[in-house]
Amino acid sequence: MFNKRTKIKDLLSGEKTGQEVTVMGWVRTFRNNQFIAINDGSTNNNIQIVIELGLIDDATSKRITTGASLKVSGKLIESLGKGQKVEIKATSLEILGDSDAEKYPLQPKKHSLEFLREKAHLRFRTNTFGAIFRIRHALAFAVHQFFNDRGFVYLHTPILTASDAEGAGEMFQVTTLPLNNAPTKADGTIDFSQDFFGKATNLTVSGQLEGELGAMAFSDIYTFGPTFRAENSNTARHLAEFWMIEPEMAFYDLEDNRNLAEEFIKYLIGYAMKHNMEDLEFLDTRLKEEENSLPQDKRSEMNLIEKLEFVLNNSFEHITYTEAIDILLASPAYKKKKFKYDVQWGIDLQSEHERYLVEKHFKKPVIVTDYPKDIKAFYMRQNDDGKTVAAMDILAPGIGEIVGGSQREERLDKLENRMKEMDIPSEEMSWYLDTRRFGTVPHAGFGLGFERMVLFVTGMTNIRDVIPFARTPKNCEF
Ligand code: 4AD
Ligand code: MG
Repeated sequence: MFNKRTKIKDLLSGEKTGQEVTVMGWVRTFRNNQFIAINDGSTNNNIQIVIELGLIDDATSKRITTGASLKVSGKLIESLGKGQKVEIKATSLEILGDSDAEKYPLQPKKHSLEFLREKAHLRFRTNTFGAIFRIRHALAFAVHQFFNDRGFVYLHTPILTASDAEGAGEMFQVTTLPLNNAPTKADGTIDFSQDFFGKATNLTVSGQLEGELGAMAFSDIYTFGPTFRAENSNTARHLAEFWMIEPEMAFYDLEDNRNLAEEFIKYLIGYAMKHNMEDLEFLDTRLKEEENSLPQDKRSEMNLIEKLEFVLNNSFEHITYTEAIDILLASPAYKKKKFKYDVQWGIDLQSEHERYLVEKHFKKPVIVTDYPKDIKAFYMRQNDDGKTVAAMDILAPGIGEIVGGSQREERLDKLENRMKEMDIPSEEMSWYLDTRRFGTVPHAGFGLGFERMVLFVTGMTNIRDVIPFARTPKNCEF
């Protein structure tokens, strides 16, 4: 019977001394043959186990090494030592699993994040990753809470699809055809009619198009699932497999969309501040220590918790793309030729431009709307100026783009024309166009990159550190 155990978090917060308790977990440290610090992942704090002389024999004592798993029963008592309020005076101790101290990669010392990325299967057992993944869990839970409270339907959009929602051609193909001997058609191209689905298919880059179908019935839906992009971007912000939250709302224009996105981001931050303060404080301290080794001008102006509070308590800035370009052109950075990429109306904003706007100019999250139509997807609603579309990106300090969204083109003729211009075959998309044929309505939605949100809340800087097992170019371990 394993269920009769108390989680360490509850023991440490309950402080009901005097009772008999059982804990199970992994050894962090063992000192003086007497004090074991044990952790079960419910909190970063360990509980101290006190072993009285004679309770265990020497052979057992030698097996209490970092990483070994234990079951300990005993009395919860007030701690005499410093550093903890309560501890367990053991009456029995059982080793569940040994851990060879010579071979166990995690030593009771600070390891670099790079080293721990290689040991991603064990890094959950460190304080830093314990904190990160408890926060990631809380944020995922908060996503559902937020939308459920507002009457949204959680729609499971498919992972296998034949469409390329973003039209960027960054898809992973899915096939059961033999790669070295694929059937071909008379013209030499691959005959996908013989493939599993009878046509070329891929992993989805976004659940949006199917999400729109749902919104045309439920009014408000959201998707939250894995998405895949075969973009060869080996940066600290890109993953080949990432999770995205995509709400889609009927009867919403771009302004409604902006407001919902801002409310949503603030809700997630507020949720973590309410439920994960201990872990946030741990990461806050960690970040301060990291930055202590940097020169003053490279350090953050605000610490992590101050930053989260600041975002929570201030409105996001809203500017149009055209205004963003004007600000960049007038900036000292542009005049001193500090940007690597040129600035002119029509360019896709590069991350250096986004970060200038957010970190130097406005010093807070910025919503940029109304981008040139030529740099955005086919489904965005065309503005009356003929040049721009009702797009919105939200840019966050330290991250860059965290949300991408738009009001959708609900007018069938305009949508069909745009698809023709962009060479998107409308026959294959007739299911999508049906929403515009039968009871079309103004609607809008956005996608929040979940890992980028977790990056923002945890203050981490590499996206590989906020997803359990990162998939990036040339890397698909575990
Ligand atoms: O801007 P994107 O490409 O927008 C869409 O996919 C739309 N269909 C969303 C919608 O309107 N329903 O991606 C949305 C967000 C980005 O802002 C970014 O946060 C994240 O997804 N994202 C990535 N995150 C990690 N790794 C990548 N390779 C990402 N690509 C996009
Ligand atoms: Mg985008």
